[in-house]
Amino acid sequence: MKSLLIVISIHHNNTGKIAETIAKVLDAQIKKPSQINPEEITEFDLIGFGSGIYDYTTHKALSNLADKLPNVNNKKAFIFSTGGLSNKRKAQKDHSKLREKLESKGYKIVNEFQCKGFNTNSFLKYFGGMNKGRPNDEDHKNAKEFAEKLMQNE
Ligand SMILES: Cc1cc2nc3c(=O)[nH]c(=O)nc-3n(C[C@H](O)[C@H](O)[C@H](O)COP(=O)(O)O)c2cc1C
Repeated sequence: MKSLLIVISIHHNNTGKIAETIAKVLDAQIKKPSQINPEEITEFDLIGFGSGIYDYTTHKALSNLADKLPNVNNKKAFIFSTGGLSNKRKAQKDHSKLREKLESKGYKIVNEFQCKGFNTNSFLKYFGGMNKGRPNDEDHKNAKEFAEKLMQNE
């Protein structure tokens, strides 16, 4: 299975660190949205879209890229993110815009992952930020298990 991760991680590279853990399991390349030629995506069997959460959603570079992707027929994809806060319901909401775009292009979103990431946005910087040390070992362990499940469901 040939896998690709497309990742934008602009705040503290929190999502970038999670991407590295997932990439190791999947033996995947990691690229930024700006490095993607939309046509090359057809070479891959599984594509992961990763981003920090900024103002309740994934980075617009991912949805802009999704707009440019060619239509596919049930190609497998997954979404992962780090956020200041995180739970399953919130992740579903944070990912909804990107998920809908990808589904409209024919992608099948096989699973989604989110964990907390260090956050010094806005006033938080005056208090040393929130979620210091996140993603932590437990987050990486969960990300690894998430990736292993993706492999099993191949
Ligand atoms: C401008 C900005 C807006 C943010 N908005 C949200 C938000 O709406 N919800 C949330 O859970 N976290 C929010 N955060 C926190 C980030 O999602 C969190 O720190 C994440 O781990 C950043 O990922 P990155 O280091 O990969 O960019 C925001 C951070 C920034 C800088």
